Amino acid sequence: MNKHFLNLKEYGSTEVRDLVYAAQELKKGSLLDKLKGKYLALIFEKSSTRTRLSFEVAMSQLGGRASFLSVNDLQLGRGEPIADSAKVISSMADGIVLRTLKHETLEDFAKSSSVPVINGLTDLSHPCQLLADMVTFIEQKGSIENKKVCWVGDYNNVCYSYIEAAEIFNFNLVIVCPEEFQPKDLKLASNVEMTKSLDIGLKESDLVTTDVWISMGDEKETSSRLAAFSGYQISPEVMDKAKSDAIFLHCLPAARGQEISHDMLDDPRSKVWDQAENRLHAQKSLLLSLL
Ligand code: CP
Ligand code: NVA
Repeated sequence: MNKHFLNLKEYGSTEVRDLVYAAQELKKGSLLDKLKGKYLALIFEKSSTRTRLSFEVAMSQLGGRASFLSVNDLQLGRGEPIADSAKVISSMADGIVLRTLKHETLEDFAKSSSVPVINGLTDLSHPCQLLADMVTFIEQKGSIENKKVCWVGDYNNVCYSYIEAAEIFNFNLVIVCPEEFQPKDLKLASNVEMTKSLDIGLKESDLVTTDVWISMGDEKETSSRLAAFSGYQISPEVMDKAKSDAIFLHCLPAARGQEISHDMLDDPRSKVWDQAENRLHAQKSLLLSLL
């Protein structure tokens, strides 16, 4: 059966751990020509810097090619059915990265694709981001097993993938989120907890991470979100409540003055530039495995 990368758990725990370890090896160097002659299509319904570029550069460094296709330039954007588009595109490309507004669009596309489909972010999840986050934590601090991770802010697509990663990598995850934005019927594993208390979340944390309060697609809720999340900004002073050797990650792009203070990314505990670069190494690992 055709293997896709739609969510971490669907892909498989052992397989995800292997991707992260392989990414660390790939980072050490040696340009491979393993994907010579392969072509990757990047189809995006939303903006992107890191995801787009990391896949394009990864393909180039592995000897293949990639091109970025905005949905608006494809017949898909004019209403050509998803299944028809998937059949045609997958008859020519060797892999397809999709960034969609709705996760169902990704799933529908994958069902009709004859080549691997990669989730480049949906409203539900962002599994590629977590590969880079795991690479970054492990290279900075060693194993993440039994460590405490504190997610602060919106319960969003990146947070969903953190929950899956907590199970796969066996770390303890505390999600700090105002009550009105906590998802109701979510069943959490014993190593994941949700609280509105920043102090509870930060205490003894090894990793503190956050993301924008207004994700792409949430713009209409800007004023209510800014009000609800206003007490949840991460700054160097807030980081002082975590372990003294804790690190800070943010998938980027960041909104300085909202979820982070203006000086947070310059703090030595912030490893966001390593994290962003690691998107490239993680993407290579994923492409070598799938293509
Ligand atoms: N973190 C991330 O996915 O960034 P882009 O939206 O720039 O791809
Ligand atoms: N949660 C953010 C992540 C961007 C990489 C969004 O969906 O806009």
